[in-house]
Amino acid sequence: MCGITGYIGDSQAAPVLLGALKKLEYRGYDSAGIAVLDEGTITVRKAKGPLSALEEKLADAVITGSLGIGHTRWATHGEPSDINSHPHTDVSGQIAVVHNGIIENYLSLKEWLQTREVVFRSETDTEVIAHLINFYYTGEKASGGMPKPGFGEPPLLRAVQNALERLEGSYALAIAVADYPDRIIAARKDSPLVIGLGQGENLIASDIPALLPHTRDVIYMEEGELAVLYRDHVELINAQGGRVIRAPSRVEWDAEAAEKGGFAHFMLKEIHDQAKALSDTLRPRIKNGGIVFEEFDFENFSFEACAGEAKRIVITACGTAWHAAMVAKYAFEHFARIPVEVDIASEYRYRNPVPGEKDLVIIISQSGETADTLAAMRLAKKGGNRILAITNVVGSTLAREADLTLFTWAGPEIAVASTKAFTTQLMCLYLLALKLARVRSRVTEGAYRNYIDELARLPLLAEELLSKQKLIQRFASRQFNKTKVFFMGRQFDYAISLESALKLKEISYTHSEAFAAGELKHGPIALVDKNTLVVAIATQTALFDKIISNIKEISARGGASLVITWEDNPFGPVADEVFTIPKTLDPFSPMLAIIPAQLFAYYCSIQRGNNPDKPRNLAKSVTVE
Ligand code: G6P
Repeated sequence: MCGITGYIGDSQAAPVLLGALKKLEYRGYDSAGIAVLDEGTITVRKAKGPLSALEEKLADAVITGSLGIGHTRWATHGEPSDINSHPHTDVSGQIAVVHNGIIENYLSLKEWLQTREVVFRSETDTEVIAHLINFYYTGEKASGGMPKPGFGEPPLLRAVQNALERLEGSYALAIAVADYPDRIIAARKDSPLVIGLGQGENLIASDIPALLPHTRDVIYMEEGELAVLYRDHVELINAQGGRVIRAPSRVEWDAEAAEKGGFAHFMLKEIHDQAKALSDTLRPRIKNGGIVFEEFDFENFSFEACAGEAKRIVITACGTAWHAAMVAKYAFEHFARIPVEVDIASEYRYRNPVPGEKDLVIIISQSGETADTLAAMRLAKKGGNRILAITNVVGSTLAREADLTLFTWAGPEIAVASTKAFTTQLMCLYLLALKLARVRSRVTEGAYRNYIDELARLPLLAEELLSKQKLIQRFASRQFNKTKVFFMGRQFDYAISLESALKLKEISYTHSEAFAAGELKHGPIALVDKNTLVVAIATQTALFDKIISNIKEISARGGASLVITWEDNPFGPVADEVFTIPKTLDPFSPMLAIIPAQLFAYYCSIQRGNNPDKPRNLAKSVTVE
């Protein structure tokens, strides 16, 4: 998804913007560009392809100026091309805009502007914004309101406000205007934007890693807000036009946490981060042997009361987060004996769901910015449900709009394919399931404490498992050429099969699917031949026999098999390969069983010559439908 940035300060803007865009690469992009303002002229450079293509263009001529905006584009309207890349300018070339989001009514605005002789250069929705601002700005100037920086509302701000009022859809915007060399204007609606407060410089970006080389003091922009960034201060204006004072937040995690830390790729680093991340998510919530959600002690929403009363849990999310929801269904039903409904957010939002008065709605999203997930949350809220969010991003839209938020303390996840965000989402969900089980007296105090002790062992077990990564690497080097890879399992293992298949297809581009093992005979077996690898996730001991039969059926048709299972298992004689994971309780297996599958996907991707951190066509954060 697009990344935007802006810089105003004493340094040269171009290298700062490039540095910031590099930190936003993880969001996924197909082109990039910058606009720098110097002595009343805006210079724009943009290029299709990786940032290196833009860097090459910039190498031709030195671009000076200490105010600029930059963008990595993930195409939505118009193919990836130099022309469609941002920044976009108005007809005069005096107003430059970068945008993340989608302007839904851009076609009618474009037609309206075309009747006023505006000539469009690109196929993007964003270009209308630059022209609209110009339209209002020219009007403001013509009516006598010439720019008087420092004297009340300048015409530029009014022009931007007027233009924004005409936009339907979502946007994070940074705007540079030749008449105003002392400021950048930023605006947000349904797309994230963070301001970085530096010493004699200020920045804006879609995400914090882009700001960290300059500052740890940040202000999260709120919905509908405008910001005006000067070199030495920042003004915030709310949707009603009132001034807002907001204290900055301090980013506590380290810049290195967003770097590769010696690993070949972010994905491999993040797979290895999981032992610590699981521990970071668990530890703060364990007090005197019990689970305490200190973040839930709010007057109007007692988790205990809500959880005690809830008749049903509804969980909705997208992608990997939806798979976490699938695991949670089994966990909540197993431990707390409460019915759970799980829905993909894009399905939920359009299927006219029936809200139950006593539903507890859980929304899961690593980024907290996924468009469908936010829409599902707002719909559930409108239906009168209370919302409990699980997200990794402090200050995200989801965290700010939910009634309660549990943060997965996974640290920044940079690789597009989600790994540590998933396992830490699971940890949060298991904590909720166990707490709920206790609140509803579904487990005794003794059993509850034993479960918590076992959860606390998982980070160590994950560490042990990760030390065997070479075995998976070797297996991947033999199997990466398979044209079809199926994952199968039952119950918890089915949910992990879904996530495993997603990982493999995302980064190795191998056709992979998951199915409930009991469904093998109802269709998938027709596809099994000697080019097929079937990975069975088998951690539910009571169902081992069923999986043995499934594997025999696969071998009989020439398919290869790998089983991911406990150390003590019966699969050696039937499967081609067995990869074992250290033993924990069967229902806790998902937090471990996914790790070999993540590694398998990673090594298949490497073997196939792909970049696992930036899979083709995928974006880290899908902020549009
Ligand atoms: C995209 C990402 C996935 C992620 C999904 C949901 O598809 O590529 O990795 O699982 O969005 O994202 P969220 O931030 O809501 O968890």
